[in-house]
Amino acid sequence: MRILGIETSCDETAAAVVEETGDAAKPWAIRSNVIASQVPIHREWGGVVPELASRQHVRDICGVVERALTDAQTTWRDLGAIAVTQGPGLVGSLLVGVAFAKAASAAAALPLVAVHHLAGHIESLVLHNGELPLPAVVLVVSGGHTSLYLVDRPGSYRLLSRTRDDAAGEAYDKVAKLLGLGYPGGPVIDRLAQEGDDRAVPLPTTRLTHADRNAPELKGDLDFSFSGLKTAVLRLVRAHDGPLSDAEIADMAASFQRVVVASLIEKLFDAARRHGARSVGIAGGVSANSRLRAELQQRGERRELPTFVPSLTLSTDNAAMIAAAGLRKLRAGITSPLDINADAALALG
Ligand code: KG4
Ligand code: ZN
Repeated sequence: MRILGIETSCDETAAAVVEETGDAAKPWAIRSNVIASQVPIHREWGGVVPELASRQHVRDICGVVERALTDAQTTWRDLGAIAVTQGPGLVGSLLVGVAFAKAASAAAALPLVAVHHLAGHIESLVLHNGELPLPAVVLVVSGGHTSLYLVDRPGSYRLLSRTRDDAAGEAYDKVAKLLGLGYPGGPVIDRLAQEGDDRAVPLPTTRLTHADRNAPELKGDLDFSFSGLKTAVLRLVRAHDGPLSDAEIADMAASFQRVVVASLIEKLFDAARRHGARSVGIAGGVSANSRLRAELQQRGERRELPTFVPSLTLSTDNAAMIAAAGLRKLRAGITSPLDINADAALALG
């Protein structure tokens, strides 16, 4: 079966066609994956402007879907279902994809499958690598989320912890703005960090205490927090005599990245240990980060735990992951009625 996936939760209008392979170990293959990015529109404003995003989705959605079908050499008649991101995200943006998917589902008489955006990010790991050894602990780390999920059977996602304040990607974007590096901040900090000294700037770390480690039942000790780190960078930049030099910016980027990655890796592996995970994965926009990927692999090798990442294209928002998560639900017998609505705060697990 082939499924059309649609994703419009933030600032990318995306459509993709994903096909079942018949191989239980690697169940899905991408036939097309089209993404119309709005980054140049929002860059001017230093971040995503919701009203501009939803208007641009309206302009792009028909062309993006047509292109996804053409690239996949697929007609509406070849499809078995339509999957769409129902939430969470910007409501005006989500509405465009949801309205389009409902209309297409009615017009083409195809089942509709509503997908949670983070289930899509988690399934991007399976789309790229095949089924993970379960139970798996997956860190979803993006501009809007920093959450740990336990997957103990396919299609089940149990929320273990989340950020108490900013998402990691949001912290990257805010720190980049403070340093005058533009939007989005993740890729540019990642690049500059490679030229800086990661011990040059003393930044606060959020460490687990010994007491926390010995009391795993303590609720919330796997939670993340990044706003203190962002504030520390802000204070240092303000206290600095004049603008930072290029070398100082690189040192700040490297030091910031070291602390963020250390906190993500530590909690991910701590959760894996507590839940007896047989594999760990990272997904979402920040999983494109070079240091995070390198440290994940090193730590996995040391612990003899298999580690998984999506391809770079599947790390950031895309519709192929939504199509994959849609196929998972469809095969579990779950479809959605045509009166579903976009849900900006949709919960998972
Ligand atoms: O998953 P995504 O495309 O959208 C959301 O669902 O939020 O993630 C976007 C986020 C942005 O905050 C961006 O700065 C961050 O991912 N990002 C990175 C890198 N590439 C993208 N963060 C760190 N390092 C990167 N290489
Ligand atoms: Zn995302």
